[in-house]
Amino acid sequence: MLRSVTKCLLTNPVSVCRRTMSHSSLVGKTAIVTASTDGIGLAAAEALGQRGAHVVVSSRRQDNVDKAVSLLLSKNIQVTGTTCNVGKSEDREKLVQMTVEKCGGIDILVSNAAVNPFFGNIMDSTEEVWDKILGVNVKAAFLLTKLVVPHMEKRGGGSVVFVSSVAAYQPMQALGPYSVSKTALLGLTRALAPELAHSNIRVNCVAPGVIKTRFSSALWQNEDIVDEFKKQLAIKRIGEPAEIGGVIAFLCSDDASYITGETIMATGGMSCRL
Ligand SMILES: NC(=O)c1ccc[n+]([C@@H]2O[C@H](COP(=O)([O-])OP(=O)(O)OC[C@H]3O[C@@H](n4cnc5c(N)ncnc54)[C@H](OP(=O)(O)O)[C@@H]3O)[C@@H](O)[C@H]2O)c1
Repeated sequence: MLRSVTKCLLTNPVSVCRRTMSHSSLVGKTAIVTASTDGIGLAAAEALGQRGAHVVVSSRRQDNVDKAVSLLLSKNIQVTGTTCNVGKSEDREKLVQMTVEKCGGIDILVSNAAVNPFFGNIMDSTEEVWDKILGVNVKAAFLLTKLVVPHMEKRGGGSVVFVSSVAAYQPMQALGPYSVSKTALLGLTRALAPELAHSNIRVNCVAPGVIKTRFSSALWQNEDIVDEFKKQLAIKRIGEPAEIGGVIAFLCSDDASYITGETIMATGGMSCRL
């Protein structure tokens, strides 16, 4: 048995190699990643770019966009950058239009942007807080998907990934409205997947645990909080952005061609499910 497998590899090493490469390759694909000048979004852009995609990075501040573009270019990644506050409809439209003009189409959307302007008891949260959180974290994610779908259809299909959170399954203390917005993304994933499957577009979601970024610095900079988190983790450390970027790139690749409507938790074993 072993001898015949070895013989097969020796007689046909090139085809084995090509097959492996073509599965995870994103050469020729164009990927929009929102909020991608830092943290998980930047790591997702890098992971997609390393697999050959042309990545379009964006965030609210031009100086952050410039820095991210320079960093990705220094890693030989094909990249275009622009400002886009996902909460503004004119910015979402500009992002999509610019991508189509510069790259000729859209194959991948990673909807990563989120805000959290409120810490405290959920009963103290105001209408303004809810409008902001749901507007950016959920409504903008849907409206951007709606804008890119016609372009994916022109390419014969595509892939959408929403960035949710472990807080979607178990609301985090003092983060009630944010947690609810992340739960809504699980529902959005499930609602969109069957409808967009007709257009050969897969819709999936990733739910990170605590990842070392600016967004979560209040958690990982406090040793007592980190120790408390570690009790819930199987892998006894905080995650790195690249560990989420890789999951996102997998979901966007042909390796995940039979996965849609799914959420992958990447939490170091926190709240793992049966
Ligand atoms: N870090 C964690 O532990 C963790 C855990 C679970 C889920 N998540 C989720 O992961 C996603 C990314 O978070 P992160 O931790 O990577 O954050 P981060 O490192 O703080 O990066 C945030 C990025 O978002 C951009 N941004 C902020 N508001 C924006 C807006 N309205 N429109 C467009 N871009 C915007 C920022 O750039 P500008 O300032 O230039 O706009 C920056 O590039 C979020 O959806 C978050 O909920 C994070």
